[in-house]
Order: sequence, then structure tokens, then C-alpha cells
Amino acid sequence: MSFEFSTVRSDEHPAIAALLHGSLVHWYESKLRQGYRFGDSPDPFLIFPQVYEALDPGEAMVAREKEGGQILGVCFVHRRETHFAVGIVATLPDAGARGVARAMMQEAIKRAEAEGKPVRLVSSLLNLDSYSLYTKMGFVPRTIFQDLMMAVPEGGMTVQAPQGVDRVRVARADEASALADFEASLQGIRREKDYAFFLEDRVGLWKVWVSEGGDGRINGVLVVSLNAAMPMLGPGVAGDEAAALAMIWTALNELGGKSYVLLAPAAAAGLVRTLYGWGARNIELHVAQAYGDTPEGSGIVFPTFLPESA
Ligand SMILES: CC(C)(COP(=O)(O)OP(=O)(O)OC[C@H]1O[C@@H](n2cnc3c(N)ncnc32)[C@H](O)[C@@H]1OP(=O)(O)O)[C@@H](O)C(=O)NCCC(=O)NCCS
Repeated sequence: MSFEFSTVRSDEHPAIAALLHGSLVHWYESKLRQGYRFGDSPDPFLIFPQVYEALDPGEAMVAREKEGGQILGVCFVHRRETHFAVGIVATLPDAGARGVARAMMQEAIKRAEAEGKPVRLVSSLLNLDSYSLYTKMGFVPRTIFQDLMMAVPEGGMTVQAPQGVDRVRVARADEASALADFEASLQGIRREKDYAFFLEDRVGLWKVWVSEGGDGRINGVLVVSLNAAMPMLGPGVAGDEAAALAMIWTALNELGGKSYVLLAPAAAAGLVRTLYGWGARNIELHVAQAYGDTPEGSGIVFPTFLPESA
């Protein structure tokens, strides 16, 4: 099969949504009998090309058949100040196991290496095919995350507020740089454009909370995706578990009546225990993977899938 890489055209967003939905349903149904996880309709997946096009115009990559131009695969590549990040990678079920995903990843690595940057991503530990795709190419697994589903009653949280909720506030519109600096100070990666995107809130629906320490300095940031297709807490980063829990509780309390997914570092034992106490259920496991040298980082980090953060 011969294919070439190109960008995603805006009139192709429905085709990309159908590819994402179709490949996920096919893989999870055929391997795990869990295709139902992704629903019956591709429409919610439109948010992926829409958000990436708004955030990184022209950077998402498709593998296109040379003859006929059919899209065989998509890979959301995302250039950041300190690294390249890769979001969801998917290929048409009919084009599976023929090297399409590997070729797209090779192209992503090539782009990153041209700028001397590492590549970072988060991969499912239920999907050993994608896990293996990355590790075979030289990615190295790092932090393990538990995907925790948190169902919040209509009226908000019924469990007692943790300490520090009085120091949680909504982020200001002009804080993108300060939030990026805070993340860089703990994680060693910087992505101001992402924070500006969340704060501008042009495509999708986002809310950003900040926690301040006793000295008034930022000690946590938590973005929440209110997109109907992907209700998630994250991306976020906090200096310690207490700041993380104060932001999570505040966000959930205000957004009652729905279920949200949060990827919590499995090693943050106190935080995970508290979230279990708040009713959290494990629904999947993910692992951060990195290609090339990238800092280990400190603090508590909450990655997401849209836009991917690692
Ligand atoms: C995961 C997915 C993208 C792989 O796409 P693909 O086009 O079939 O993959 P490729 O043929 O390019 O390469 C797969 C590589 O992984 C290897 N691989 C796959 N499963 C493996 C396993 N269980 N153990 C070891 N290696 C494995 C293959 O051998 C191949 O490596 P090679 O190129 O060195 O031979 C595809 O199955 C898919 O779209 N799944 C649904 C969407 C999804 O879950 N995406 C990942 C989440 S972000």
C-alpha cells in the first residue's frame, strides 16, 4: 500500500471523526469486547480535528493513499516550546497492521528531531498494540495513570471539602504565561499556547482553576473540559496532593450532575485513596511515554486526551 502524508483539510473533519470512532470501536470490540465505550455515533469525535485545527493549524497529519486519496490514518502531532506531543493515533481497520501508524509516528519523530526536541505521549495500557507500537520505536514508559471516573450528584459534592478550597479560584484571562511558567517550574515542559487556548475558550468549552499557596503564589492549575464529547478534568499540575485535591473538589462541586474522568498518577497514593473515598471508579490505565531526553518532572500531573498533554 503506498501512501503519503498531508495535512487535514477542514472539509475532511467528518471523515476524520468517522475514522477515529470506527478504529476505536473496531479495536476495542475485536480485542476486548468493549466497543460500546465509544458510543454509536462518530459526531462527538468532530471535536478532535476542530480543537487541533484551532490550536495547531496544519500540524495534524494524515496518511493518504496515493491512488484515490483515501485517508488511511491520522496522527495529531503538536509542536510545543520544549517538546513535541502526539495525541490520538488511529488507522482505518482495513489498513491495520500494514505500517501506516508506524510511518506516521516516524514522521512525527522526524519533525521533533529536526528541532532537537523529545516526543511525549500518553498511551493506553489496555491497548497493547498501541503501547507496543510506541515502545518498539524507542519510546520509554514512565508514569502510570489511573483513569478515574467520578460521578458528581446534581447538587455538587456531598463529601466534605478538603483543606485549601478557599485558595482555589478561576484563572484570569491574562494568566497563560504565568500558568506555563508554573508548569515549567515543576515539569520542565512549557506550553503557553495551550493555556492561552483554554483561557480564550474559542473552540470547545473549557474552565481553568488555579490554586494559590499561603504566599499567594500559584501552586496548582487544573483545566476542565466541559465538551459533551469529552468531559474530563485535566490537563493539570499541582505542587502537592493537597493543592491537587482542593482544585479537583472545587471543579467537581461546581460541575455537579455529570461524570468526569481524571487521569491520576498511580503513585500519588494519598490522592488516589481520597478520590476512592469520593466514589471514584477505575475505568482504564494509561502510561506516559517519551522518546528522547525529557525531564522527569516533579509535582502531581493530570494528563488529558484533548488536546493531548503529557
Ligand atoms: C494502534 C493502531 C494505531 C496501530 O496501527 P497500525 O497501522 O495497525 O500499526 P502498524 O502496522 O503501523 O505498526 C504496528 C507495530 O506495532 C507492533 N505491534 C502491534 N501489536 C504488538 C504487540 N502486541 N506486541 C509487540 N508488537 C506489536 C507491530 O509488530 C508493528 O511493529 P513493526 O512495525 O515493528 O512491525 C491501530 O490499531 C488503531 O487505530 N487502533 C485503534 C485506535 C487506537 O486505539 N489508537 C491508539 C490510542 S491513541
